Amino acid sequence: MPSQLFARKPLSLLLEEMKGENRLRRVLGPVQLSSLGIGAIIGAGIFVATGAAAHNVAGPALVLSYVVAGITCIFAALCYAEFASMVPIAGSAYTYAYATLGELFAWIIGWDLVLEYVVSSAAVANGWSGYFQAVLAKFGVVLPPALSGPPIVYMAETGEFVATGGIINLPAVVVAGIVTAVLVKGIRESASFNSAMVFLKVAAVIFVILVGAFYIDPANWEPFAPYGLTGLSFFGHTIHGQTDAGGAPLGMLAGAAIIFFAYIGFDSVSTHAEEAKRPQRDVPIGIVASLLVCTLLYVLVVVVLTGMVPYDRINPNAGVSDAFRQAGLPWAEFIIAAAGVAGITSVLLVMMLSGPRVFLAMARDGMLPLGFFGAVHERFKTPWKSTIAVGVAVAVMAGLLPIDALLHLANIGTLLAFVIVCAAVLVMRKRHPEAERPFRCPWVPTIPILGILLCLMLMFSLPAANWWRLGAWLALGIVVYAIYGRRHSVMARRLRAGVADRDLLASRPPAGDGPPHG
Ligand code: ALA
Repeated sequence: MPSQLFARKPLSLLLEEMKGENRLRRVLGPVQLSSLGIGAIIGAGIFVATGAAAHNVAGPALVLSYVVAGITCIFAALCYAEFASMVPIAGSAYTYAYATLGELFAWIIGWDLVLEYVVSSAAVANGWSGYFQAVLAKFGVVLPPALSGPPIVYMAETGEFVATGGIINLPAVVVAGIVTAVLVKGIRESASFNSAMVFLKVAAVIFVILVGAFYIDPANWEPFAPYGLTGLSFFGHTIHGQTDAGGAPLGMLAGAAIIFFAYIGFDSVSTHAEEAKRPQRDVPIGIVASLLVCTLLYVLVVVVLTGMVPYDRINPNAGVSDAFRQAGLPWAEFIIAAAGVAGITSVLLVMMLSGPRVFLAMARDGMLPLGFFGAVHERFKTPWKSTIAVGVAVAVMAGLLPIDALLHLANIGTLLAFVIVCAAVLVMRKRHPEAERPFRCPWVPTIPILGILLCLMLMFSLPAANWWRLGAWLALGIVVYAIYGRRHSVMARRLRAGVADRDLLASRPPAGDGPPHG
């Protein structure tokens, strides 16, 4: 039924649905939304992935990697912000795709977002475990190997997974369970817990920058780009730059594709649009402000880190805290590791908060079983069943899989979502130039096109195996859609009833959502 595959959800219907039953509480203002954004952004990426990326992939040129990844995200963020202001309800890119590109694309992106949030959460829980174990070690507590890591790791040299002797990463499983319990209880409590964590980790990052600056030796920035300034491949064939023994790209761009993970999370602000007091104004502010703050902090951290320690002596597992040990400041190492644990916890909180909200949006459209994924808890007003389902998936993946595999897969899934959002802005501008846009992405079509090109470039700077894994996940998604979503889609029922394709864009957002912005 091709007409169903490309059926678009009228914007007016989306806005109408905002007034319906089963809604989440509108309790978040601009500061809380920006804080949720920063809470989702600064975490395992800067604290954990930076060390490995500087040591193995980019050298001191990693600072440029952060700039490239940051610019890519700002382009995508401007596109997200336009949509988030037009369609301020839960569901993020999934909802935007449904309104512009049709049901099949919406399903694909929803399925892709589930991958992003679940796999990113698993990577973050895994990174949390690494820092937590480092803190425990300071107190002389060392977990038995069977409980401290995954049973398998990926060997870049051979491109194979090999057994480690471990059974499960127990701290990663436990933290996923605790965060799930907090989230089931409710958004208000989660947001204030998050604010405290955000404060701690931003303080830790500023501490790293200010104290570390005194230990910089500019000689450590030479050579600046030991692996080159590129690192691009096309499905396993090198286009430009060096590769490692396993054929994975090396260089500044390859570094950008890996540390891209550090920026994941700004998009989750848009999944909270339904809980925002004035979504049209506050969600774009939350997205753009949190991203700008984080980009600045990251660039400064990397300048300091690569200035403190020669790139080939940066610890690939806990680069930031270990740099202070190498500088002869073990007390600082402890403070940073402890704040790292707190900071990574807040990322996990927001990541695991976002996945169930995408499920909720999909379930309301009949794409997933409403009784399960659409259930909002009577007292807590949270999507509790899908929160628990996501918690279980995160715990299993974080407990059993190695962090680098999780990081790469999360990155490629997120980059694909950004490509679709940037494209959807172009489509929507063309199809519905008259629609009300409280926030407008500037310089259209230049910014969305640059966003698409930069995201694709980063996707091609990741090891090729990730394309196959992404393809396998999407193929599975198509099967689930064919079996369930296609039949139960609310839009399909409307089509059958002959009422779907009336576009009612003239209707305005509901009153009380604040003045237009931008
Ligand atoms: N950006 C998040 C982090 O770095 C996912 O942990």
